Amino acid sequence: MKFFVDTADVDAIRELNDLGFVDGVTTNPSLIAKSGRDILEVTKEICDMVEGPVSAEVVATEYEDMIAEGRKLAEIAPNIAVKVPLTLDGLRACKTLTGEGKMVNVTLCFSANQALLAAKAGATFISPFIGRLDDINLDGLELIADIRQIYDNYGYETQILAASIRGANHMSDCAKIGADVATAPPAVIKAMANHVLTDKGLAAFLADAEKAGIKIV
Ligand code: G3P
Repeated sequence: MKFFVDTADVDAIRELNDLGFVDGVTTNPSLIAKSGRDILEVTKEICDMVEGPVSAEVVATEYEDMIAEGRKLAEIAPNIAVKVPLTLDGLRACKTLTGEGKMVNVTLCFSANQALLAAKAGATFISPFIGRLDDINLDGLELIADIRQIYDNYGYETQILAASIRGANHMSDCAKIGADVATAPPAVIKAMANHVLTDKGLAAFLADAEKAGIKIV
């Protein structure tokens, strides 16, 4: 499973990129607003740093305006994936932009029917928001499993990009189900390394090393 980082914080992306955990980046208008930076400028900086796809989202809601914004975003770098919302205008924009050879990430997906339409529109990525479904007592992971089954039934090449990830367990759960990609905040990716028995075991090893006077360099 590929790991994308869900942030527009360049320092956080750099830290994880140095660890080799960044296969791509996703942003959205809320994350750009949080960064306090100009969208074109910060997106360019991220694209220069990361080799994989960098999702940048349109803010228009009408087809023609989405196309204009999508083309402008795609000019930033070859690794831009234009992010469009899962609306009829967004799906039409997806079809046009993918027809021009651009990567498109269809976002704000909350149902299997929506994911089926995105695949038919030729989306490169579909972004089901699992955490927001869990927030309203629905089952985000069940949605990932349903989309996996539908896409596999027909050989759709659209990649399932699990989004709105809230905790480290979501990452392994998505991997078990077969999501192609999971995008998570930097803190969640780092938290995947944590285990209380690792901490306890390391403390014991270090205490024994100290007692025995073990020195390596
Ligand atoms: O990038 C979209 C998605 O990951 C948003 O997550 O936590 O705002 O629901 P969240």
